[in-house]
This record gives sequence, structure tokens and C-alpha cells, in this order.
Amino acid sequence: MSLSPAALIAHKRDGGEHSPDEIRQLIASFASGTLTDYQMTAWLMATYLRGLSDGEMIALTEAMLHSGTVLKRQRGGLPRVDKHSTGGVGDKISLPLAPLVACFDVRVPMIAGRGLGHTGGTLDKLESIPGYNTQLGAREFQKTVVQIGASIIGQTKDIAPVDKRIYALRDVTGTVACRPLIVASILSKKLAEALDGLVLDVKVGRGAFMTEEKSARALAKSLVQVAGGLGTQAVARLTRMDAPLGTTIGNALEVKESLELLQGGGPSDSRELTLTLAEEMLLLAGRMGTRAVARGELDKALKSGVAFEKFREMVSRHGGDVRAVDDPSRLPSTKQRQLIRADKAGFVSAVDSLALAEVALALGAGRRRSTDAVDPAVGIEVHVKLGERIEKEQKLLTLHVRKRDPKLAARALSAVRVSRRRVRVPELLLGRAIRS
Ligand code: URA
Repeated sequence: MSLSPAALIAHKRDGGEHSPDEIRQLIASFASGTLTDYQMTAWLMATYLRGLSDGEMIALTEAMLHSGTVLKRQRGGLPRVDKHSTGGVGDKISLPLAPLVACFDVRVPMIAGRGLGHTGGTLDKLESIPGYNTQLGAREFQKTVVQIGASIIGQTKDIAPVDKRIYALRDVTGTVACRPLIVASILSKKLAEALDGLVLDVKVGRGAFMTEEKSARALAKSLVQVAGGLGTQAVARLTRMDAPLGTTIGNALEVKESLELLQGGGPSDSRELTLTLAEEMLLLAGRMGTRAVARGELDKALKSGVAFEKFREMVSRHGGDVRAVDDPSRLPSTKQRQLIRADKAGFVSAVDSLALAEVALALGAGRRRSTDAVDPAVGIEVHVKLGERIEKEQKLLTLHVRKRDPKLAARALSAVRVSRRRVRVPELLLGRAIRS
């Protein structure tokens, strides 16, 4: 027997648990318009306050997933795996990761997002390569995945359309930071890719969505439980996001760093994270027996140029100008640079990713509202790492700017804190979650 919208809301308000049928009914009525925005908002707030069980999260994710198109997997086709990051600062890992993993007879159909607020987005980074088209239709996307092995596109209006509407309501009603709703939102989009395996990079720290390790661990656990409950094996990695990842923040600058990673170079933290997530993807795909074997093969693919060539092919297939891949000086860049130097000697005790992301946003590298345009050329190069001993006047940051701004330079300087005492550098990789 179906319940009225008011009865569904009251049930959750009073701490009740929904049956899968009730959740399906809720989402179907919202999709068809018989459950209004204000009723959905009331249910979202009740859920925010009361939470959802694993069973409810599974039912909600499934209902949201099937509100739109779910890609088809070819019978007997190669394994399909993907990665999702909960969002960070300087997190460009998807760019080297997708082509790298695709070198091993694995398909990576990656539907990625744009930057919003202080976190960057994979699509904005790719679009800094002149001509790169992130809007392939579903058929072209599938074809690219089969022929090249990897394709990275943007969300289409047909993938989990209910999520888009629900997210818009959450955004203006204080219900974004709610674990069950985050889980359903992320997985309803990712599972539409018809995956065999999904690796989740759950960020924790100043520049992450989850600032506390405890809540990030809970999110990681729920993500793997719900994905597993819907038939997709998932592994989550908990990774530190207090300082920016790698040495660049900003779209074209991050593409440049990605190209270095794809050639076996790049900063050690972004290289380590790329390799760790790639190992997980290859293990999920059943392509490698052990992590050590996977690491060896991945290293070879980077150093031999095979992964770089795969990225080149993907860019070309998406209409991107491969001359900018071969020669990064062809990527968008600014004429003006603003060098920030240390005002004292000591040990770098913080490189505040949130503060630097705010500076990058002010430079135009990101967007405050989803309708804002981003400037591909602006951004920040970070020359120092947490814990490093530095001298007075040493180079800390280079701002790539359209116009010099002393106030912004002062904000950037205060994001790098220097102490007299040596500091402990926290691990990048904090933990791992699998389905229990
Ligand atoms: N990312 C999403 O896609 N959805 C959320 O709710 C939060 C982060």
C-alpha cells in the first residue's frame, strides 16, 4: 500500500525506517512531479536529522540511479572500473589515472564534474586543453571507451536527473553535509557507468568536504557498503587533504603537472596517489595478482611513454589539440606572475589548502556559482612542502595572475605558515575501507 507524501515525511521525521518500496515511491513521485519540491525538502531535512540505514541508502541510490540512463556493458567485454574523489585542492589525479589504467586492457568510462567553491573539477582542467570536448553523447562516449580504453566526459542530463534536482534543493536548505545523501548522490551517478569496480578517494582535512577523519571514515564505509549492495565491488582510500596535492592549483597548471606524471615524473605525493589508486583499480579489475606486481607494471607504463600516448589518444579523440600535450607551453598561460617569498626562515608547518584554494578562486581558477566562467590560465604554483626547512626570501609560491594584487599576495603568503620547530608530516594515505 502506498503512503501519502506527508506520511512518508512524518515516518522519517519520527525516526522510522523506510521499506525499499517506500523509497522507490518517494523518488518516483518526485520524478513525476506528484511529490513537490517543498515536500522533498522536508524529507531531506528529516533524513539529515534522522539518518538512513544501509538498506535505505541502497534503495535510495538505486531509485536515483534508475531515474535516468544506465550505460550498457557489452557481453564478455573488458572489465570496467572507475575512480571517484570527494574533491580536493590540486587534485588532478583523474587525468593521469584514467589513461594509465586503460593501458592494461581495462575500460575506464569516467563521468566527471566541474569545480565548485574551493574544490577543482576534472572537466575544467581538461577543457584548458584547446578543443577538448567534454560533452560527448552517450553513444560516442561508449565508442571512445571501447576504442581507446578511457574517456572522460561531463555529466549528461540523462544520468541520474533526480540527483541534480535533489542537490539543488540540498544546496539551499542546509542539507548537503549529510552522509546518506552524499552516498546516494555520488553513487547514483557513478554506478550509471555500469562498472565492475569503483575506487573511492575520500579526502579528509582542511581542503576537503570532510574535515574530520571520523566522518570521512564513516563516509568511506557507507560508500563501499552501498556500492557492494548494488553489485559493484568498491574500495575506498582515505587520503589527507590539508595541504594541496602536488605542486599546482589551477586548470592549465594542473594539466601540465598531469603530463609530467604521465611521463613518470611529477611531484612525489601526486605520483604516489596516482599509483596507489591505479593499483586498486587493476586489482578490482582482476588484471593483477598482487599490489607489488601492479606497481611494477604501472611504473613501466609511465616510464615507457605508453600511458602518455594513451592520454594523447584520448585528447585527440575528444577533439583536443595534441600539440598542447606535446608542448605544454601551448597551454593557456598568463603574462603576469607574482612571486611570493618567505618572510622568515624555519620549517613549513602548514600549507593551507583551503586558504590557497580561496586565493585561486579569487584569481578566477574556480567558480563560486555553477554559472561562473573559469579562467584556464590562472593559478598557483606551490614551491614548498610541509615540514621542509626554508630560508628567509626563499620562493614559496608563484601566482599566475591577470593583474597583480598585493592584497591577494598577502593572503597567499599567510597560507604558508613557518615555525621555528621541526614539524611532524602526516601520512598522505590514512586508511582503506572495503565491504564487510
Ligand atoms: N558530490 C556529489 O556528487 N554529491 C554530494 O552530495 C556531495 C559531493
